[in-house]
Amino acid sequence: MIDYRYILNKKFFKWCSILSTIITLSTTFYIYTYPSAYPARCSWYNAAQDGNDVDVNGLDHMSRALYYTKRYLKDVYKHNVLGVVPSKGDEDGGPQDIHMIAFGDPQIKGIWPSTDYNTRLDIYGNDHYLGHIVSVMEQRLRPSHVAVLGDLFSSQWISDSEFYNRSSRYLTRLFHRDTTWLKDLKELEHDDNGLYKIDWMTWGQSLNRKCEEEKPWNLEFGYSDVHSWDPEKEDYLFINVTGNHDIGYSGDTTYQHLARYNQVFGKDNYWIEYDRDTDHPWRIVVLNSLLLEGPALQPEFLDVTWEFLTQLAERNFEGNTILLTHVPFYKEEGLCSDGPNFEYYPEDHASEPYKSKLLRSQNHLSEKVTNEVLNLVFHNKKPGIILTGHDHEGCKTIYNKNFDDDTWTASKEAKSDLAVQEITVRAMMGEFDGNTGLLTGHFDRDQGDWEFHFKLCPFMVQHVWWVAKIFLIVTVLLWSITFFM
Ligand SMILES: *[C@@H]1O[C@H](CO)[C@@H](O)[C@H](O)[C@H]1NC(C)=O
Ligand SMILES: *[C@@H]1O[C@H](CO)[C@@H](O)[C@H](O)[C@H]1NC(C)=O
Repeated sequence: MIDYRYILNKKFFKWCSILSTIITLSTTFYIYTYPSAYPARCSWYNAAQDGNDVDVNGLDHMSRALYYTKRYLKDVYKHNVLGVVPSKGDEDGGPQDIHMIAFGDPQIKGIWPSTDYNTRLDIYGNDHYLGHIVSVMEQRLRPSHVAVLGDLFSSQWISDSEFYNRSSRYLTRLFHRDTTWLKDLKELEHDDNGLYKIDWMTWGQSLNRKCEEEKPWNLEFGYSDVHSWDPEKEDYLFINVTGNHDIGYSGDTTYQHLARYNQVFGKDNYWIEYDRDTDHPWRIVVLNSLLLEGPALQPEFLDVTWEFLTQLAERNFEGNTILLTHVPFYKEEGLCSDGPNFEYYPEDHASEPYKSKLLRSQNHLSEKVTNEVLNLVFHNKKPGIILTGHDHEGCKTIYNKNFDDDTWTASKEAKSDLAVQEITVRAMMGEFDGNTGLLTGHFDRDQGDWEFHFKLCPFMVQHVWWVAKIFLIVTVLLWSITFFM
């Protein structure tokens, strides 16, 4: 017979508490220092550090484990104890490096009255899990730019109020940003019940008026030398990119979708030119790739995007380009996880007959649009880099320009004088390991060009994060019981 009184005695609880404390401390330590497990992948490009890695293949298991542990602890010491700030890369007297963090497809889900408690907890946890990644990476890397490559939310079929509520979660829980302005916005734009409602009619009329004028349309696409939208509060630039889940594919996008995106997340097409009149100009181009081809519900939106690309090409800009967009460029089957795919609404689409035959979804831009866009964006024949999202798995491809017929071919290698790398950034969602993309731009003075290097820093499946949080609660409970027994 087991004596159950023994199990419930104080000693037993004490050992459980100690064990639970150890689990809590080690998992918590890990989640706050996880980039140190991959110090090279989770640091800006820096040749000196990358080249120093030991060849672990020659080591036995024990020495290998020892090597990884030492490397991990050394990096924790460097970043979390000494608080070493990343180098700005201007030691050689050149301009500071570009340090951009890029996140793919967070796709945060919504909570409805019918959502059960398990799912609610999961969504709450997921928001904070993504927010944890953002704060650990920002603290470690001190980026100059933070970009989210579209699909902030998981659905385009949501009301204005749900769009507002999700924006608010996105900004506070994921990106820890001040949302006073968002609350003020609701004071201005709401329905009779006080819920956010976009006045898309006014927005649309203003857009239409500008597009009735002679070209070039005055749509204020351009910025220069912006390093923060709010320099008093933050020292990096936050960049939003439209995804199909934020505004829909072109067969779905309405004035309502686009107006509310513009109100909360800013312009969907713009460029920022940096250091234009120096020997090291470069620019960021944010492109709304959902509104490039149709058949579209509102074809006038496509005209706006093409007008943007035309004005961009006419800038006569001499520098290198970072292109940020959501839908990847055309590539043959087999180069990345997603092959080419286009879907259209059926001719008799009973629930929404006005969408008959319109574009319903796309994995890539079409071949024709790809050639046109790349010719316009890389008009000055200067290399650059493209960051996209959409396919979740992630991929690297190189677009080679053929100057004979102005077409671009995707491949795994550079084959042309003008070869531009496209990085499809792996999603930051928990199922895809909570990745952070790190883009470093360094100005090579001999070449007179910016060079770009991309790395992916993985977290780990969400479970470790959950274990740390749940064991924290369990530990507190156990110690309370032990203490009061
Ligand atoms: C958004 O949040 C407000 C306040 O919490 C709530 O009253 C409203 O119902 C929410 N909207 C939706 C669509 O759930
Ligand atoms: C991107 O979104 C954030 C949060 O809404 C906002 O603070 C920022 O100004 C937006 N960017 C632009 C260019 O409007």
